[in-house]
Amino acid sequence: MIITTASFKGGVAKTTTAIHIAAYLQERGDTVLIDGDPNRSACRWAERGLANNQPLPFKVVGVNQAARYRACEHFVIDTEARAEAEDLKEILEGCDLLVLPTTPDTLSLDALVQTVELLQKIGTGKYRVLLTRVPPPPRREGADARDFLKEMGFPVFTGKIREAVAFQKAGNDGILVHKVKGDRRARMAWNEYCTIGKEIMHAAGKE
Ligand SMILES: Nc1ncnc2c1ncn2[C@@H]1O[C@H](COP(=O)(O)OP(=O)(O)OP(=O)(O)O)[C@@H](O)[C@H]1O
Ligand SMILES: [Mg+2]
Repeated sequence: MIITTASFKGGVAKTTTAIHIAAYLQERGDTVLIDGDPNRSACRWAERGLANNQPLPFKVVGVNQAARYRACEHFVIDTEARAEAEDLKEILEGCDLLVLPTTPDTLSLDALVQTVELLQKIGTGKYRVLLTRVPPPPRREGADARDFLKEMGFPVFTGKIREAVAFQKAGNDGILVHKVKGDRRARMAWNEYCTIGKEIMHAAGKE
């Protein structure tokens, strides 16, 4: 199974999502995360974990090394923020499911609408929107964004990922969010990615 994260806007949690989806898939089969971002954010995440003696449970490699891991069962591809329609078509052709993370704010949602309009032009249903960095209730941003996406008729994951400082700590230390110590939301945050993992398996017909 090949799962790719993409967005037109930067900073919407593509890399964070790729890392945690790869961790979920690794529990079900050998998984490699292919870092398609020239910034190499995912590779650097993995390097920090290794330096901390807490290596990630899956391999993270650059695109040029990817062919070496062709025997793996699952691939997660992290990409850079793009603005080119041609890129998106290529990304789409290279995966089984395109995950489009978005934060629930107007700028991100505007960028997402542009992305989905392009996907609709390409004529594919092989994608799903993931709401990330959703502020906790009573704040309404998450629910409002979901209503908006539903109204637009976009396919959206039922689960969502909350705003949690544990994700920043995980990124800083190069570890998975549930390995963050002394943060009672860390486990909840991981469970939310597990819910998305299940939806992905289901969408790809593997469960
Ligand atoms: N659920 C979350 N709660 C709080 N912070 C988060 C969450 N998810 C991601 N972040 C933080 O948001 C920032 C951007 O996340 P990330 O690097 O995953 O986004 P990205 O889309 O890959 O960015 P880029 O476009 O630069 O590649 C990081 O500082 C990350 O720690
Ligand atoms: Mg990134």
